[in-house]
Amino acid sequence: MGNRIIPVPHEEHKIFPPPEEFSKKAHVKSETEYSEIYRKSIEDPEGFWADMAEKNITWFKKWEKVMDCDFSKPDIKYFIGAQLNVSYNCLDRHLKTYRKNKAALIWEGENGENKTFTYQELHRHVCRFANLLKKLGVKKGDRVVFYLPMIPELAIGLLACSRIGAVHSVVFGGFSATALRERINDCQAKVLVTCDGSFRAGKVIPLKNNADSALLETPTVKQCLVFNRTGITIKMTEGRDIFAEKALADENISSWCKPEEMDAEDPLFILYTSGSTGKPKGLLHTTAGYLLYTAVTFKYIFDYHEEDTFWCTADIGWITGHSYIVYGPLCNGATSIMFEGVPTYPHPDRYWEIVEKYKVNVFYTAPTVIRSLAREGEAWTKKRDISSLRLLGSVGEPINPEAWLWYHHNIGKERCPIVDTWWQTETGGILISSLPGAVPMNPGAAGRPFFGVQPAVMKADGSPAGENEDGALVIKNAWPGITRTIYGNPKRYKETYFSQHKGNYFSGDGAKVDKNGDYHLLGRIDDVINVSGHRLGTAEIESSLVVHPAVAEAAIVGFPHEIKGQGIFAFVMLNSGFQSSKDLEKELVKQTRKDIGPIAKPDAIQFVEGLPKTRSGKIMRRILRKIVEDKADEIGDITTLADPTVVEKIIEGREAVSSKQREKREKRETMEGGKRKDST
Ligand code: WT7
Repeated sequence: MGNRIIPVPHEEHKIFPPPEEFSKKAHVKSETEYSEIYRKSIEDPEGFWADMAEKNITWFKKWEKVMDCDFSKPDIKYFIGAQLNVSYNCLDRHLKTYRKNKAALIWEGENGENKTFTYQELHRHVCRFANLLKKLGVKKGDRVVFYLPMIPELAIGLLACSRIGAVHSVVFGGFSATALRERINDCQAKVLVTCDGSFRAGKVIPLKNNADSALLETPTVKQCLVFNRTGITIKMTEGRDIFAEKALADENISSWCKPEEMDAEDPLFILYTSGSTGKPKGLLHTTAGYLLYTAVTFKYIFDYHEEDTFWCTADIGWITGHSYIVYGPLCNGATSIMFEGVPTYPHPDRYWEIVEKYKVNVFYTAPTVIRSLAREGEAWTKKRDISSLRLLGSVGEPINPEAWLWYHHNIGKERCPIVDTWWQTETGGILISSLPGAVPMNPGAAGRPFFGVQPAVMKADGSPAGENEDGALVIKNAWPGITRTIYGNPKRYKETYFSQHKGNYFSGDGAKVDKNGDYHLLGRIDDVINVSGHRLGTAEIESSLVVHPAVAEAAIVGFPHEIKGQGIFAFVMLNSGFQSSKDLEKELVKQTRKDIGPIAKPDAIQFVEGLPKTRSGKIMRRILRKIVEDKADEIGDITTLADPTVVEKIIEGREAVSSKQREKREKRETMEGGKRKDST
């Protein structure tokens, strides 16, 4: 009961060689071949990337210099002097080939409705959208924010921006009005693209309402394009809001739009992500390096072949969707599936239904999804024919060996290799993942670095960690997909990524390397938490909580959660005159939903009289983490705290919270046990 991932103890720590059948047809067929290409890519990065750039991208103008990268400044440039257009590479060039009428994008709606766009059709839609943006006054370099659910217009809109050189910034549809407003203002967007509402597991989320509140304080936004998805009633503001479908259907909008000639280092998009301190950072990705890196990683790590149907289940609101639903697949001329819904609605075999329907060959999802589906029981996986699958992928957090094995047995039928892909919003594309036809799979380890990438594990003193020794994961050299700056804040860019271990890119993750050279990721070592593969800064959630008049101080820590990977635990100290209560807990949850979104709501709140602080006033989250993990005996020396007695009190209070949590969990499990028998 409880965790339904059935452990397979005799197979733990087993290494799985690539299936022979798979290797035979793979782009890279053996470990020797991988090592050879890898060696060349490190010895001669210029030669390697120039060769990749020739083979995978169509250029309007060739480069004068392949790269000019200096992490100490930092200053990173690829393909200096070259010109290209991203939408041209993702669309136009395929139209001259047999791909013209190939499916580019297959969209599956939450309710089972679907649309397929051939490359030719997608091209027409993108051109029309691009022309509409131009008509609204959007020019090269202007920022356009997208606040949309997973509807085709989102992918079309991004490509339209890239066509005219506008910079897109997608704000995940689950973020609140406040979060949207902050992001719009940070990048000073000219246009917002949204829709009336979005479907989520049968419910409707009022996106336009949220957009309306955001737009009350966003002076730069001149126009708001509104698509119709759910048909709910919305308010339109005259002079600002435009019905998008109607505007796109206008006969004066041409179906041809010339692709802008962009410099290699011109910005392509900004995507916000959480850091350990302060507000979310707008990571800027540029044109040539990003496109090349996503295209090449897509080809080799997902071993892409022309006939493949590829499905990445991420939302385009995150980097995974940008790189492996839109840019990587389309640049390769692949068929990419875009799904609007969630894994368990209306039933827990929704994903397998889609795999069966479109004969998906390569499937890429997150450990949290695997764990939640495993919990529903194997029977659901057997109801559909998923024999088209040939490769599986995982991303977002370390995949625990139990979940890996469940995935391998029940979805991969012990036939499909699994790629565990480690990367970040900052990296643009995958940096560590064993190639599926070449390197043995090691459940729980992401494996080997991609071509051209030199990771290393470093101890706190800057010396390299030994075999199996924990340390910080850094990358020693540049790669084309790396983020070039934090929009509007180059100083923070340098401080966050290039000042911990000088001369190296600092990832924020802990890692170790085993005797085979496989990298094992050990989670974040900064104040960032990873909830269901969503990245959240503890500082962001704390800032939201202290806005509430009852709250004096708050400290957030992550705790192990069997489905989400990490859950959010909030320690809250109240202002005098306020009492803790169930109602107050609800209000605090509401506060985080309002400021950030539902993904940031605490799973547990403990009211405390004081927080463990150093004498200089820094909250010791390390201690709080140990308390939450029920490892109070590992806290160690606390005599340096300003007031060591708070720790004892928190431990006592924590016990009361955990027993409540335990009761809740037991109740849930009893109920689910019953439900499961009936439904499968
Ligand atoms: C953080 C980045 C880029 C994909 C989606 C998340 C964690 C991601 C793995 C993996 C272990 C992983 C890391 C990383 N992470 N993939 N395969 N194994 N950890 O992007 O929101 O920028 O988060 O996700 O902690 O730093 P993101």
